[in-house]
Amino acid sequence: MGSASALGAHIILGFGLLEALSPAIVSATTDIDPQTAVKSNLLFLVEIQKTDNSGAEIRSCTGALISPLDVITAGDCVDVANASNVNVLTGALLGQGSRVVHAAQTVMRHPKYVIVNGAANVNFNFDVSLVRLKEALVLGTQASTIALTSPGARAAVGANITVAGFGIYDWGEDDNGKPRLKQGQIMNSVVCGNQMLANITPEEFCVSNPPDNGNSGCPAFIGNVLYGIMSWGSTVFVDVAEPEINTFISMNIKV
Ligand SMILES: *[C@@H]1O[C@H](CO)[C@@H](O)[C@H](O)[C@H]1NC(C)=O
Ligand SMILES: *[C@@H]1O[C@H](CO)[C@@H](O)[C@H](O)[C@H]1NC(C)=O
Repeated sequence: MGSASALGAHIILGFGLLEALSPAIVSATTDIDPQTAVKSNLLFLVEIQKTDNSGAEIRSCTGALISPLDVITAGDCVDVANASNVNVLTGALLGQGSRVVHAAQTVMRHPKYVIVNGAANVNFNFDVSLVRLKEALVLGTQASTIALTSPGARAAVGANITVAGFGIYDWGEDDNGKPRLKQGQIMNSVVCGNQMLANITPEEFCVSNPPDNGNSGCPAFIGNVLYGIMSWGSTVFVDVAEPEINTFISMNIKV
């Protein structure tokens, strides 16, 4: 009898675990058409192009314009040694023909950026970088900005958050990918860490999503506030409210 009830408890625990590991997907992935892009203030979404010294593209990422001069993206998406190898493309949400290439003046990666080998994954800490453009963008029909969350303001576990970006598969080397959007929910970090077999740091949060949630640097936002950018795996986002990252932004960028 004792062993039967222990087995029962185990099964119940098993169900609880399964539910916890399968949080609701809040919305299906949808393409962003130009009308939606304008109506929903999504023109802050930009493509980041990393090229080699011959000008050939070697990486494509998504970024978010946080001022007419500054773009936030993932750490690995930029060439910190040579800003000439980084371009920012606005207008892609309005159609491929509307893309305008903007040259980077400087690129900075978070000074604590590091790649960590986890149990089953390679993950990244402080996976964020800033690109300052040579010339300020004219905001309006081609580009807009998104606000950064204030220091310490975290989206709650269970909150619905929008994720959008180009190149819809996990490491996203899919340049010219269609811009797409979906909503997921912020997950408990311990539950997420168990699922990802990795330690989710305080600077990271997880969004429940199937793996087609865009490429590195994809913004995760609620309304017009940016909470994070996609870092690694297919669900883990760098939290831009983490004080180190905010300090980094305000000290170095003076937005
Ligand atoms: C920087 O990149 C540009 C073009 O992408 C290239 O012409 C130049 O040689 C590079 N500079 C260095 C120091 O690698
Ligand atoms: C998240 O979105 C779903 C679907 O739109 C809705 O039913 C749910 O109430 C929302 N949850 C929160 C916490 O806002």
